[in-house]
Amino acid sequence: MVLLGETFPNFTANSDIGPIEFHDWIGDSWAILFSHPNDFTPVCTTELARVAKLIPAFAKRGVKVIALSCNSVDSHIQWIKDIRAYGNITGEVFPYPIIEDENREISLSLGMLDPDERDSQGLPLSARSVFIIDPKKKMRLSILYPATTGRNFDEILRVIDSLQLTDKHKVATPVDWRNGDDVMIQPSVTDEQAKSMFGENIKVTNLPSGKPYLRSILQPTDT
Ligand code: BEZ
Repeated sequence: MVLLGETFPNFTANSDIGPIEFHDWIGDSWAILFSHPNDFTPVCTTELARVAKLIPAFAKRGVKVIALSCNSVDSHIQWIKDIRAYGNITGEVFPYPIIEDENREISLSLGMLDPDERDSQGLPLSARSVFIIDPKKKMRLSILYPATTGRNFDEILRVIDSLQLTDKHKVATPVDWRNGDDVMIQPSVTDEQAKSMFGENIKVTNLPSGKPYLRSILQPTDT
């Protein structure tokens, strides 16, 4: 299984838009690969419709999105009609591709299979996993949800904002942070370095330990 910071494995696969070579498909973008347990199931339909609606928000951040399940391309093509109807998704082309992984090769190699969820033939299904991959093809986040819990894709957007911000500045984003909120200075940055990086407006929270590690600043801008 791939670990945080490792190069995400390349693979070839068939999808509803034809064959895909994963690294080529990513190109110079960020990418999200996410799996769902089964086509024509209720929670999955709500998730894939929500992701279709969020494609402009991902594109604004330079992120391409691709889905995967153990169903066939033919099944994906038929199911997309339901997703479109449920989510009121128009446009000639569905906004992102869906990979077929009927032989489970990709799901198995990436640790996406849920041994408790099986299809009508008893074969294991993919869980609800999400991988965020950066333009250097490094894996930057992975999550794994059970089939019975739909994901919150606003959280995935929030993580993208955090990753892109903290790649540029030596800051970290606190609990429930949203783009524009104050951020924390990374613990590895000395007070002296912090002053030269971020100026004098550093707020240090007094804590019982007396240790001045909780240092916050306004979110840095790119200019
Ligand atoms: C669903 O998408 O609703 C679902 C799929 C597999 C197991 C449970 C729920």
